[in-house]
Amino acid sequence: MRPIIYAANWKMHLPPEDARQFAVSFRDGVGTLPGRTLWFFPSAVSLEAVCQAFRNRPDIRVGAQDVHWEPRGAFTGATSIPLARGAGATGALVGHSERRHVFLETDAETGRKVRALVEAGLTAMLCVGELLGEREAGQTEAVCMRQLRAGLEGVSGAAWDQVLIAYEPVWAIGTGRNATPADAAEVHRAIRAELARLGAPRSVPVLYGGSVNLGNVAALLAERDIDGVLVGGASLDPAGWAQLVSVLPA
Ligand code: PGA
Repeated sequence: MRPIIYAANWKMHLPPEDARQFAVSFRDGVGTLPGRTLWFFPSAVSLEAVCQAFRNRPDIRVGAQDVHWEPRGAFTGATSIPLARGAGATGALVGHSERRHVFLETDAETGRKVRALVEAGLTAMLCVGELLGEREAGQTEAVCMRQLRAGLEGVSGAAWDQVLIAYEPVWAIGTGRNATPADAAEVHRAIRAELARLGAPRSVPVLYGGSVNLGNVAALLAERDIDGVLVGGASLDPAGWAQLVSVLPA
């Protein structure tokens, strides 16, 4: 059985000391959970503290929330892959909707980031998802497929093992409105079909994100095509997150 993936996106929260305390209390309070892989995406300044706390936990991975494709240079404010790796990260989110819609990151830029990550031996979690207007206009699949194709351009062979996809409908992020499990699963099936067309093996995980919480996680994971969850708001409280990752598919 493939592991279920629970990923925490801490966004612009939890400074280093709070992040370290969270990680240490989680590590000491929650033992290895069979059949589960956990990811934490702290802010860049808190990466090292979290990586240190989890360094002896192979079931827990830590990634950056964004990286630049260039390894170094004059890119004020950006985090390179070598910098993230130096802090202990083994992967990164790419193309989160806030990167796309707040920071106006393009599809082409997401592709450069995914390629740079896999070439460097790190894992990329590529996020895709439609805006509310796009959903209402019946463009959900077209938008997600376009983002997938651009984000995964050039990925082939063994590099697929370093790729995860997160489907996050933008209208469901941080709003308390989540896609119904059946609606999400329908998009997941379309994503899987596109992944197959791109040559990806069935083992590439496809996660759902957008207002996932303790009340809806079991039903979402019960869908055969949903391999895990990417969680923002409900991952910020250590006790709540410990409870959420203990939930198995309904
Ligand atoms: P949310 O965020 O769980 O707060 O909706 C999810 C995300 O942005 O990854």
